[in-house]
Amino acid sequence: MMLGDEGYCGSVSYQKLEETIKSITGYEYVLPTHQGRAAERILYGQLLRPGCLVISNCFYSTTKGNIEEKAHAKTIALPQHPIVGELKLTEPFHGNMDITELQQLLAQRRRDVGCVIVTLTANDICGQPVSMENVRQVSRVCRSYDLPVVLDACRYAENAWFVKTREHGFADASLEHIAREAFSYGDACIVSAKKDGFGNVGAFIGIRGDRALYEKCLQELCLTQGFPTNGGISGRSMEALAVGLRESLDLDYLQYRMSQVSFLTDLIADAGIPTVWGSHVYVDAGAILDHMPREHYPAWALANALYVEGGIRGYEFGRVNYGDGYTGLDMLRFALPRRVYTNRHLEYVAEVLRYVAENKQAVSGYCVDWAPPVMRHFLGTFKPIRSEVEDDTMM
Ligand SMILES: Cc1ncc(COP(=O)(O)O)c(C=O)c1O
Repeated sequence: MMLGDEGYCGSVSYQKLEETIKSITGYEYVLPTHQGRAAERILYGQLLRPGCLVISNCFYSTTKGNIEEKAHAKTIALPQHPIVGELKLTEPFHGNMDITELQQLLAQRRRDVGCVIVTLTANDICGQPVSMENVRQVSRVCRSYDLPVVLDACRYAENAWFVKTREHGFADASLEHIAREAFSYGDACIVSAKKDGFGNVGAFIGIRGDRALYEKCLQELCLTQGFPTNGGISGRSMEALAVGLRESLDLDYLQYRMSQVSFLTDLIADAGIPTVWGSHVYVDAGAILDHMPREHYPAWALANALYVEGGIRGYEFGRVNYGDGYTGLDMLRFALPRRVYTNRHLEYVAEVLRYVAENKQAVSGYCVDWAPPVMRHFLGTFKPIRSEVEDDTMM
């Protein structure tokens, strides 16, 4: 980071970052942005026409928001294995897209569709991986319809690790090779570098071949982010990303990382709490707080109780995030920052979770205090429903 070149244009740090990105993705054009959501706003704003349909295995909330609010397009998720009823995984690649449904939809409505997105790993399907075979098939189908495929690939390295360890034919392949093959099935990508890039900030758009699209995005980038050789990111951050994006493909590091994620999952499961792991750990908050009506946002309540009790911060994937009409599970996600915690810290997380679960009657439900029409899970404020519990014992 001390090598960071903070020059407004032509930064050497950017050249290093660009070289790293090109070597990992194989894409010709790179556009740096300060976060993934800025990249989404630029790419989808240029790629999509109002009213068109965008298909994905699943959409992260900012992706869906930018497609719907900025590009005025519609979204449709086609997960092959939606998680319904109980928090249980049955497939090694539970994040896959349903190819049969994709084919059927395209056969009927190709003209309406703007692009197809594959999210690697599937953040909104419990961080589950997508198989190489599935990405290949999506690409094959879309190419037969002349339809662009975008990879939302901020966890490209973790997905590559799952492919290596779970998919037939990849055990001896290097992670670089696996990641590169996955990128080869996309026409463009969006990568938030705060995940597998080890960054505190930063993201990029990669585009293969389509010069016209690149030029349109470039103008938006310059208007909204910064000069094309920084995209609003400082030189020292670019310097760090140039290293981090490569380093996350190190097998030893990934073994350690994924063993930490599964370690925490095992501790939580040992406490009898329904949980699964992928890129992150997910728990079924509705099952833990089974005394609480869904209308009182149990996953939100659990998140707050864990924070009050132990200073632990989780992320709600439930009715706050997806809206009051959502009928799926109310889940809480623990996203483990990379190279931050020891296993002892994770034991502490499991201990606090067990304590809160054992004292669930003291956990209050919540109601909405204020919520904007979009992104209420980031921006909204909520009030405890105090009548449910005594104030002095409430978590
Ligand atoms: C799959 C996915 N896409 C896009 C984003 C948005 O990236 P950022 O947080 O850098 O805006 C995230 C963030 O978590 C994500 O998980």
